Amino acid sequence: MHEGRGPMKCTACKAPAVIDLRRHNANFCTEHFLRLCRDQVVKAIKDFSMLEPSDRVLVAVSGGKDSLAVWDILLDLGYQADGFYIGLGIGEYSDESGRYARDFAQSRGATLVQVDLRDEYGYDIPTGSRAARRAPCSACGLSKRHLFDKAAIDGGYDAIATGHNLDDEAAVLFGNVLHWHTEYLARQAPVLPARDGFPKKIKPLVRLGEREMAAYCVLRGIDYIVEECPMAAGNRHLRYKDALNQIEAGSPGAKFDFFHGFLARAAQNFELDPDEITLGSCANCGAPCSTEVCAFCRLVQRATAQPVELSETRRRA
Ligand code: AMP
Ligand code: FES
Ligand code: ZN
Ligand code: ZN
Repeated sequence: MHEGRGPMKCTACKAPAVIDLRRHNANFCTEHFLRLCRDQVVKAIKDFSMLEPSDRVLVAVSGGKDSLAVWDILLDLGYQADGFYIGLGIGEYSDESGRYARDFAQSRGATLVQVDLRDEYGYDIPTGSRAARRAPCSACGLSKRHLFDKAAIDGGYDAIATGHNLDDEAAVLFGNVLHWHTEYLARQAPVLPARDGFPKKIKPLVRLGEREMAAYCVLRGIDYIVEECPMAAGNRHLRYKDALNQIEAGSPGAKFDFFHGFLARAAQNFELDPDEITLGSCANCGAPCSTEVCAFCRLVQRATAQPVELSETRRRA
C-alpha cells in the first residue's frame, strides 16, 4: 500500500500514519483519520441540508461496516439517532448481521428498532422472492424501502439515514448513465425531501468510500459482518464497483469527481416535475403509491400465497 521511503507520517501531526488516502494526497494517524471521517459527514450534512441539530434520525443498519459507521458518527456528533434493523431471513447471513447490529446498539446504549419479515409478514427473502417470481435483490430492495418509510413515519422521525457510501452511489450512477435510466438519475440525490407521506431520506456517507469505512470500523473497534449478502454475489452493481475501482487505481479521485460532479453540474437536468407525480394511497396498508395496492402489499400477497403447482403439471402434460 505504502511505497514511499521510511515510515508514513500523518499529514496533520507527523505522528506515524495508519492509512494513506490517495484522493486527498495525504496520510493520517488514527486520531486525524477519525476526525476526517466525521468532518466529511458534517460537510455532507451541511452541504445537502440533511439534518438540523435537534432532529431525530432513524439509521437503517444492516450489520455491515457502512451503516454501523454512520450510526456511530451520528451519535458522536450528538444527534438523537436510533437504529433500525430488518431480519430478512437470508440464512446464516441474516442471523449474523442481526447479532452485529444488536451488539453495537448494546455497546453504545442506543435504541435498536427491529422488524422480522417472517414473524411480521410471513415470508423471507429467499422463499418470498421465489414465490413472487422476483429476483431476490429486487424483492429485498422493495421490502427494505417500504419498511424504512413505515418505520420512520410511524416512529415520528425527521429522517431515515442509510449507509450508502461514495462507492455505492458512484456505481449506481454508472449503471444509470450506462443505460440512460433518466428517471432514476432524478433519484440519485444524497437527500430526498419528505413528501406525500414519504419520510426524508439521507445518505450521510456520500463523501466517504468503502475502504475508508472499513478502516473507520477497525480503528473504532466496531465489529461488523464482512461477508456480502450471498444473494447479491456477482450482480451488476458489484461489477460496476470493480470497474470504477480499476479506474480509481490509475486516477485517484475519479469516483468522487464522477459522482459529485454529476450532483453539481448535471443532476438538475433530470429533476422530475413535482406536479407530474400524482400519488394516492394503498388500499391495503395506506402507504403512498400510485396503484390501488402498493408494490409491497402485492409482494407480501404473492410471497405468502400457497405455491401453485398446477402450471408445472400442465406444462408437462
Ligand atoms: P444494501 O441495499 O444492502 O446495499 O444496503 C444499503 C443500505 O440499506 C445499508 O447501508 C443500510 O443502511 C440499509 N440496510 C441494508 N440491509 C438492511 C437491513 N437488513 N436492515 C436495515 N437496514 C438495512
Ligand atoms: Fe437484499 Fe441480499 S441484502 S438480497
Ligand atoms: Zn495525526
Ligand atoms: Zn400497501
